[in-house]
Formats: sequence, structure tokens, C-alpha cells
Amino acid sequence: MSETIDLLLLGAGQMITSRSDGNGPLRGKNLSDAGILRDSAIAIAGGRILAIGKTDSVKKEVGQRPVSRVIELGGRVVMPGWVDPHTHAVFPRYRADEYEARIRGDSYLEIERRGGGIKRTVRELREMGEEDLYEISRRRLLKMIRTGVTTIEIKSGYGLDLENELKMLRVISRLAEDMAIDIVPTFMGAHQKPPEFAGKGEYVKFLIAEVIPEVARLGKAKYIDVFCEKDVFDLDETRQILAAGKEHGFGLKLHADEIFAIGGTELAVELGAVSVDHLTKITETGIEALSHSGTIGVLLPGTSFGLASSSFAPARKLVSSGAAIALATDFNPGSAPSFSMPLAISIACSQMGLLPSEAINASTINAAYSIGMQKEIGSLEKGKKADIVVYDVEDYREIPSRAGTDHSVIVIKEGNVIWEMQDYESRSEVGF
Ligand code: NIG
Ligand code: FE
Repeated sequence: MSETIDLLLLGAGQMITSRSDGNGPLRGKNLSDAGILRDSAIAIAGGRILAIGKTDSVKKEVGQRPVSRVIELGGRVVMPGWVDPHTHAVFPRYRADEYEARIRGDSYLEIERRGGGIKRTVRELREMGEEDLYEISRRRLLKMIRTGVTTIEIKSGYGLDLENELKMLRVISRLAEDMAIDIVPTFMGAHQKPPEFAGKGEYVKFLIAEVIPEVARLGKAKYIDVFCEKDVFDLDETRQILAAGKEHGFGLKLHADEIFAIGGTELAVELGAVSVDHLTKITETGIEALSHSGTIGVLLPGTSFGLASSSFAPARKLVSSGAAIALATDFNPGSAPSFSMPLAISIACSQMGLLPSEAINASTINAAYSIGMQKEIGSLEKGKKADIVVYDVEDYREIPSRAGTDHSVIVIKEGNVIWEMQDYESRSEVGF
């Protein structure tokens, strides 16, 4: 046993492990147990966690093995890298004018009706060449990494024809190959009906007959997602699209109960979807269905925030019902232009009533479950990928409470330091 230790992190003040021991997503009272270790350390070899626990016992386990790099944490907080299980991170440009319009009182659907919203991004994406789309998205992801996110899901859905949906999926797949973080691709051709398919039902037929089989053949997506909403895809259309997706081997996801509750949550549960996302308007029946299911409710506090809305998903009710919840940014150019998971948890705490420990577990281990990655990522446990963020704070509750500044100083993906703030120690209040 002389395996080299690639990285040894010593002296964490609080280590948030978010462990679930493979027992499924954390629910109910268990959601508030962040599995905190004090005075702790992690030894990493081959990109995985080799030892984790009290600093003394990790040092003992490491023994005489050679160590390539040691980082003294000086009492800082360490946690699993954030897992963002719902983003639309590939797009041409932001729509900040719509943010102002919403503050002035225009609704999301009104903005859509006058050619803004998703339709506008679709027009811009169709015009942008694949190389430019790749490059602008790559730059964006490099900035995201600094916030401590180490795994993200990305959806297509701004192409809405075969050519442009495939263009998006190729960009997502190249990003997955080139970037240091894990990227899970989702096909969301059912994000809107494109203008050229005016007839009711025509676009759904086209998706099922031509697009879904081609995306499946190319192996470019793990999940399929539908925007199940009044005036977008109704319940029957959603069912048809998801059934076709299931037949072609995709896992199922759903945007549901965002603006109107039309039965999306119940359908997601019935079809065994891995997640159902948004849930701002979820009904009592929806909560009941979700609480008895394996489907995870992915809540998107940054979307309500970005929409200048005071309506949030009923997180407390969901947790006490026993439903499993996760958090995500919904990062997109319009309704949720912030890619910050720390901001999302901050809003989840102050506006939805989640405890900091609940919000963190929902953004790590439960988020990993919601994209089928729980065996590899989402918690600090022996054998898992060493995906870790070091925060320049003494208490993990400072992460949501001191919102507005990013306190991450080191981001590690599979044992590699992928971002490190220069000279953070000389500006640190920790241990002073
Ligand atoms: O998840 N709800 C539908 N789609 C996105 C919005 C995307 C956009 O505005 O560009 C969402 O919020
Ligand atoms: Fe979304």
C-alpha cells in the first residue's frame, strides 16, 4: 500500500459531508443533518476520496505514503462541490431588458407574447454559429466554476428544430469533454412550440417522429424534459412526448406547476420521472403524490427572484410531507440569469424557510440523485469523486447569510484544483 496521495487537505474547521450512505435522497428530518465533521481532513488519490475524518486519524491512515500536495485549511469550511441539476446554460445572450420590464409590471407570459422570452433566444441561437455558441458557453462555464459548482445539468431547448437542437446538444457534449466539471445533457426540444409549427399538435408529432429518435441514435442526451404549462405543452402532449422519450431510453424530467398547476407533478410521479422541477404552484394533490414517490422535486428559488416575483415553491410543506427536494439555479438568459448556487441557497433560506443545512444537502447529495449521479458525486464519502469547495468562512451558515460576495477560495474536481483565489490568506478573517 504505497499509493501516492495526490492531495491532502488538513485542518478543516467544519466539513459538510452531506452523506446519505447510499440510502436514497435525504427526506424529512434527515434533510437537516449535513453530516458535519470538525477538525477534519481528506486524503485524495486517483481523483477519489481515499480517507476522510478527524485530522489525526486521516494522518494515521496516510502513514508513510508520499504526498504530492498538502493544503492547510486553517479552520475554513469544506463542503462537496455544488451540483446544479437544472440549467439552460447554452445560449447566445442575456435578456436584461426583460428584467426591467418585469419590474415595471409586465408578466413573463406577456413578454413571451410580444416576441421576447424563449422565442427571442431561439431566434438568436438559430443565427449564431456553432463555434461562437460553444465559445460563449465555455467562457460562461469558466466563470461558473469559481462559484464552487463541480457538476451541472444543461438542457437544449433554444433550437426547436432538428438542426438547431442538435447544434445545442453537440455544444453541450463538447463542453462536457473539454471542461473540468461533469456535465449531464438533457434534451428539451419541448421547451416551446416554434413559430413555424402553427398547427396544434404538429410540433409534437414532429418531435416524436423525427427529433427524439435522432437524438437517441446520436446518444447526445441522458434525459428528456418538457415545459408542461398552460399555453405551452398541455398534459396530454407532455404525456406523449415523455412516453416517446422513455421508449427511446431517456430518463424523464419535467418543468411543472411553474405558473399554473395543470397536473404536471402528478404525471411526473405516474411516469416515474427522476425529477419534477419548479413547483411554485404545486397543489395539495401534487404534494401528496410527490411525497409517496421516488421523484425528486427540484426547486428553483433564483427563478422567482429573477422574475421579480414573491411567489416561491412551498419548500417547508414539501419537506414535512416527506417529499425529496433538491435546489438548482435554472440558469438561463431570461427568468434566471444568475448561475450562483450560493445565491440560490441564500434565497431558499430567507424566502422559502429552508435551514442552511437543508439547503446545502438539497444542493449536493439530493441534487446528485436528481440527475442520477449519486454514486459518484454529491457527498464527501470514501470512494466518491473528490469534488470539493473550500470556503473562507468559519461557519457554514455564513455561506447563505453573507450573500452577495462569493466566499469560495479553492475548487477541486476529481482531486484537481480547478480554481484557486490568489492570496486569499492575506485577506482572510478566518482564524484571526
Ligand atoms: O425554466 N420555464 C421555462 N423555461 C425556462 C426559462 C427559459 C428562458 O426564459 O429563457 C425556465 O424558467
Ligand atoms: Fe428551466
